Amino acid sequence: MSVLVTGGLGYIGSHTCVELINAGVDVVVVDNLYNCKKSSYDRIKALVGRDFKLYICDIRDKQGLNQIFEEEKIDSVIHFAGLKAVGESVEKPLEYFDNNVNGTLVLLDVMRNHGCKKIVFSSSATVYGLNNVSPLTEDMEVGGVTNPYGRTKYMIECILKDLYTSDNEWSICLLRYFNPIGAHKSGTMGEDPNGIPNNLMPYITQVAIGKREQLTVYGNDYDTHDGTGVRDYIHVVDLALGHIKAVEKVESENGLFIYNLGTGIGYSVLDVVKAFEKASNVTIPYKIGARRAGDIATCYSSTKKAFDELGWKAERGIEEMCEDSWRWQTQNPNGYPD
Ligand code: NAD
Ligand code: UFG
Repeated sequence: MSVLVTGGLGYIGSHTCVELINAGVDVVVVDNLYNCKKSSYDRIKALVGRDFKLYICDIRDKQGLNQIFEEEKIDSVIHFAGLKAVGESVEKPLEYFDNNVNGTLVLLDVMRNHGCKKIVFSSSATVYGLNNVSPLTEDMEVGGVTNPYGRTKYMIECILKDLYTSDNEWSICLLRYFNPIGAHKSGTMGEDPNGIPNNLMPYITQVAIGKREQLTVYGNDYDTHDGTGVRDYIHVVDLALGHIKAVEKVESENGLFIYNLGTGIGYSVLDVVKAFEKASNVTIPYKIGARRAGDIATCYSSTKKAFDELGWKAERGIEEMCEDSWRWQTQNPNGYPD
């Protein structure tokens, strides 16, 4: 089986490539290097002990993508490539719609032209919006999203559903990720955000290593056990393994499948701070700040459907997520080398 991985040098893509290659899948990566370093390619190769094909190409470049499909025999696609910063998407909506939605349209068109009709798409729990109550199940209404990034995910889900309705030779799997954190056990691969991290775990690890003074906890007056926001953190390697099951699913039957990838367990911001302090033996100074616009109190997954239909469940707990994030940060204080 040969899988084209778009955005395969990014945080989730790189971990997924390692697991795919270790499972014997032939991997071809396309990435425009917009939000990753080329050295992540070398790290993947070092971990799996073999070479694989990388195309440095933008997914909006139809000619470039055509050439990849002509040169390689692609059975299915895992589509990670996209922009993902919620705040930035409010500032730059056109760039987000162009990259995420237009990029996906170009990819789907090229796939169809080459008779490749199997795709696994990186969606997000953000599509559940503000009004659903956790645990979130796949049949809940989606679309009440509050920012352009979330809208791109919702729009792409709609496009893929319409595509399947128009032609049920397609096999499409929408994976709604909860909050991926953690890193590869080796400490050689992990999350490498540009500038000031938006997300909780990279912010905590940068405070721990002395790059940032203190964490700001965005609000402690939510209706949760300690007042801080509750999320479903999932180890990136568990998430990567979920993609193997999803790709097997689209390889084995046609259909439109939707799965949450989460652990089903919610931790508050302060729970994560405590778990990280225990795992690292470093104290994390923090202050309580205002709520962040658009944040909700609680968001965690129902895990039943992914387990029943894919036989997948997350195995790694919060301690391991914290230990692995910290190992990556200490071994690579400045992220991937240039
Ligand atoms: P990432 O930024 O680390 O990886 C994305 C990769 O795609 C990068 O290597 C980037 O260079 C590449 N890319 C972006 N635009 C491209 C284009 N037009 N052509 C080719 N390559 C392009 O992000 P990630 O955290 O690994 O996320 C992967 C996917 O999962 C994204 O679609 C993201 O929206 C989605 N997702 C992420 C999270 C999260 O918290 N990390 C949560 C839910 C969903
Ligand atoms: N938080 C802080 N301080 C920080 C960063 C975050 O207190 O410096 C809090 C947030 O308020 C929230 C929790 O930590 O309660 C998690 O925040 P993240 O930014 O790490 O994650 P979000 O749940 O806000 O967002 C993530 C992804 C989005 C995705 C969303 C829904 O970043 O892309 O999950 O799945 F859309």
